Amino acid sequence: MKILIMGADGYIGWPLFLRESMKGHEVAALDNYFTRRRVKEVESDSVSPILSLSSRLRKLSELTGREYPLYRGNASNPSFLLNTVREFRPDAIVHLAEQRSAPYSMLGLKQASATMSNNILSTMNLIYAVKEYVPDAHILKLGTMGEYGTPNIDIPEGFFEVSYNGRKDYLPFPKQAGSWYHWTKVHDSNNLMFANRLWKTPITDVMQGVVYGTRTREITETGLYTRFDIDEVWGTALNRFCAQAVAGLPLTPYGKGGQTRGFLSLEDSINCLDIALHKPPAKGEYRVFNQFDEHYSVRYLADTVKKVYEAEIGRTANIVNVENPRLELEEHYYNPEHKKLRSLGYVPSSTLENELKVILGDLETWKKRILSLRKVITPKTFWNRSSVNIPGVQTPPGTS
Ligand SMILES: NC(=O)c1ccc[n+]([C@@H]2O[C@H](COP(=O)([O-])OP(=O)(O)OC[C@H]3O[C@@H](n4cnc5c(N)ncnc54)[C@H](O)[C@@H]3O)[C@@H](O)[C@H]2O)c1
Repeated sequence: MKILIMGADGYIGWPLFLRESMKGHEVAALDNYFTRRRVKEVESDSVSPILSLSSRLRKLSELTGREYPLYRGNASNPSFLLNTVREFRPDAIVHLAEQRSAPYSMLGLKQASATMSNNILSTMNLIYAVKEYVPDAHILKLGTMGEYGTPNIDIPEGFFEVSYNGRKDYLPFPKQAGSWYHWTKVHDSNNLMFANRLWKTPITDVMQGVVYGTRTREITETGLYTRFDIDEVWGTALNRFCAQAVAGLPLTPYGKGGQTRGFLSLEDSINCLDIALHKPPAKGEYRVFNQFDEHYSVRYLADTVKKVYEAEIGRTANIVNVENPRLELEEHYYNPEHKKLRSLGYVPSSTLENELKVILGDLETWKKRILSLRKVITPKTFWNRSSVNIPGVQTPPGTS
């Protein structure tokens, strides 16, 4: 299969690239180093040691004896993306090339708008590129479980039957995203659904939970690591708690810590995407997968990291609840369905506790790098302080 991986330099993109290339597929990489640049903007860096994408591809070629095209450019630039798709002519495109930090999108108008244009335009460009050059190609697009928010009823996989005033319909489940970033994913989903109606483009829209982990089996085999972010803007909850424990800092659930979300390991995220790629939708199908293993509250995760860290590493870890920088419910009902990937053969590969042992072991070896980033772990990006931060634009006193 010919697969174009957009966002191949990223946390998920690189291990997916390793998986598909090592299975013998013809894979091309696309990226513009957006995440590397933006992470540096907040004075942070990946704590795992990562080579440039071109060096990683070169090393991979030495192992597999195959060449891997690298398309270095901006997916939100239409001519770049259309020319890439026209030239490579993939059977499937995995679209991971988006700005993926909720806090980054909440820094202010500048970052909110940059997130909107980067994410929505890259997806629009992809929709048209596929329609023009490879109309039967499968678009596998990463959205997020955060699109749904935390409604007080069960969350289906994309669609549900509604009855209103005596009539019934099967409709998209209402979305209640909680950051500008999450709203870009909702807009993408709407645009993808409409593209499918217009041109019958086969699409899998993945509502993915929060991913944790440092390794997949191919990373262990090759030693070619993927990025691992721990700062308050780019690091996700569980990965950040692990880094806090290793740095000797308190683990900091936001607010009461009753916020509950779906989580899955990096290995399982790649397993799911691999299944979605090789069991594609039918021509004309738009399908939605809720992709996570288990849902946990943030407080439970902090307790579990503390327990595993103390048992494995033998030092004490403390938990301190801090003021919640986000606007979100801190205690709520949460029961999303996640049956479709399992019906296609997905079986979770590990448990949270076993995975935590591997992560903490890796982070211990990267401790020096973690300690050098201690200052950027504590939350500073408050949703209600998001301001107009465009140079040269005057704002009324007291509004920013
Ligand atoms: N990591 C998670 O926990 C998680 C959870 C849910 C959904 N997702 C989604 O999965 C996707 C991948 O996430 P990730 O954690 O690997 O993020 P990441 O930031 O590590 O990877 C994204 C990659 O895309 C690239 N990119 C971004 N904009 C681009 C553009 N305009 N042109 C070319 N390249 C561009 C970045 O440079 C980066 O290498 C994202 O869409 C994210 O929203 C991630």
